[in-house]
Amino acid sequence: MGCVAGVIVKQVPTKPYDGQKTGTSGLRKKTKEFMQENYLANWVQSLFTALGDEVKGQSLGLGGDGRYFGKEAAQIIIKLAAGNGFKRVIVGQNALMATPAASAMIRRRKLYGGLIMSASHNPGGPDADFGIKFNYSSGEPAPERITDKIYGETTKVAVLNMADIPDVDLSKLGSTSFGEFEVVVVDPVEDYLETLRGVFDFPLLRSFLARPDFGLVFDSMHAVTGPYAKRILVQELGAPASCVKDGEPQPDFAGGHPDPNLTYAEELVKIMWSDESPAFGAASDGDGDRNMILGRKFFMNPSDSVAIIAANAQECIPYFKSGLKGVARSMPTSGALDRVASALGLPFFETPTGWKFFGNLMDAGKCSVCGEESFGTGGDHIREKDGIFAVLAWLSILAARNREVPVGGALVGVEQVALEHWKKYGRNFFSRYDYEECSSADAGRMMDHLRGVIAAAQPGDAFGDFKLKLADDFEYTDPIDGSKASKQGLRFIFEDGSRIIFRLSGTGSSGATIRLYIEQYTADPALLTKDAQEALGPIIKVALELSKLAEFTGRTNPTVIT
Ligand code: G6P
Ligand code: ZN
Repeated sequence: MGCVAGVIVKQVPTKPYDGQKTGTSGLRKKTKEFMQENYLANWVQSLFTALGDEVKGQSLGLGGDGRYFGKEAAQIIIKLAAGNGFKRVIVGQNALMATPAASAMIRRRKLYGGLIMSASHNPGGPDADFGIKFNYSSGEPAPERITDKIYGETTKVAVLNMADIPDVDLSKLGSTSFGEFEVVVVDPVEDYLETLRGVFDFPLLRSFLARPDFGLVFDSMHAVTGPYAKRILVQELGAPASCVKDGEPQPDFAGGHPDPNLTYAEELVKIMWSDESPAFGAASDGDGDRNMILGRKFFMNPSDSVAIIAANAQECIPYFKSGLKGVARSMPTSGALDRVASALGLPFFETPTGWKFFGNLMDAGKCSVCGEESFGTGGDHIREKDGIFAVLAWLSILAARNREVPVGGALVGVEQVALEHWKKYGRNFFSRYDYEECSSADAGRMMDHLRGVIAAAQPGDAFGDFKLKLADDFEYTDPIDGSKASKQGLRFIFEDGSRIIFRLSGTGSSGATIRLYIEQYTADPALLTKDAQEALGPIIKVALELSKLAEFTGRTNPTVIT
């Protein structure tokens, strides 16, 4: 028992739990695991111990994607924050806060950092997943030096410093004090909205959305973006309330898988492929950082999306009006962005998979817009990917393109913007095949086999009709701090620029997910509108043969095709 700033702190004995290994997306486990006695508290205490005396007297942000166990978890975290010397916790009402909004709040309020309770796009509920991660003072996910330290602490944690304070009513806005410690419940949308107001031309978007010949639908997938979409798209920008689909956050996302892709956002896909579809459709994931953009019967590939946003940013988005500082994409993301960078003379960076790699570039003023094939798109206004940012970026592009189009005229939609882009830059056909829940041993054997193929391969070797230029295991040296990340994906790059890439997912919660990424470029105007699966057929065949994927895993079909 002790006393910190007028609050009684109990030293609660605890014992380490195995396997609290922390990645950059924090700790993600089955909800039931998290609900074991001190499981969550151990990790949070380990984080605070790892951060050390730095946390004393600081303010901590807190919120989550609304999934099951979030409210209870918030109460535990508040008590630990007080017990470890924080002076304030700023928490979203009802413990809600989208990941990009948490990043915005940390930056705007100059907080020490924030905790985000989310397992992103994984299903929620007592039998599904929960997660927690820490973001640092510029709003970026904790770097490895901290996540490693947290893990180290989880293996030896023995005492929890728990403030002896009652639960706080998180449904009411306002501040509650216990001694010198304060809990402030805030509207989770407010700071984020202010940040976005500084990026986009809201009046212009509002007048565009008022066009009677333009309609949109935004699918929140029963997850956290519901309140954001209602406030931003409906209240601020004047879209009809009916444009927000599934906008009430639910602890189990209504039993769904809140991942915005063609498989899991099937209801939205149905709407956009129907004859009455609106011109624009979008969806976001559990915690609001991913996005999918659709046109009428048209899927906007995320790799193309970031390239198109980058190509149009200066002209269409006020925040970027003095030009982009640079652009970046993750390695498996298609090379569409590279072409924009070279046409605009912009610094360009190819990073490993994972948003954290963009943060250093942004902090160093070298990157304004970045994206990943995994439905992540963002800008340097915050340090997380940002689903609603992508939506507003696209609406800004459409508003600009349609400025001269009279109401009732031929409205320029997402597909036409894409087609114009491809005509100018050529098209990087891209597809990703996911094989979920493979056995880890099988997946490992397949990767070893591929490493063997790479070791034996020589430039000029033929793989089907493709001639090899380079095969390796991708390694990245951060240009800012010189840190190295190795083994980031097995690449086969061919002489015509086509690529085959294999990676094991770092975000699954059971077994191994194999990701196969395929890309092929064309500048032939006759081929631009070809179906991606058709265009990529031959190279996909090569990929499956060279990896012996079916032989190693017994899988003949992917679980998800993007
Ligand atoms: C998270 C990260 C992304 C990353 C993705 C990769 O969503 O925030 O930056 O692209 O995971 O997931 P994977 O399952 O392919 O490792
Ligand atoms: Zn997410």
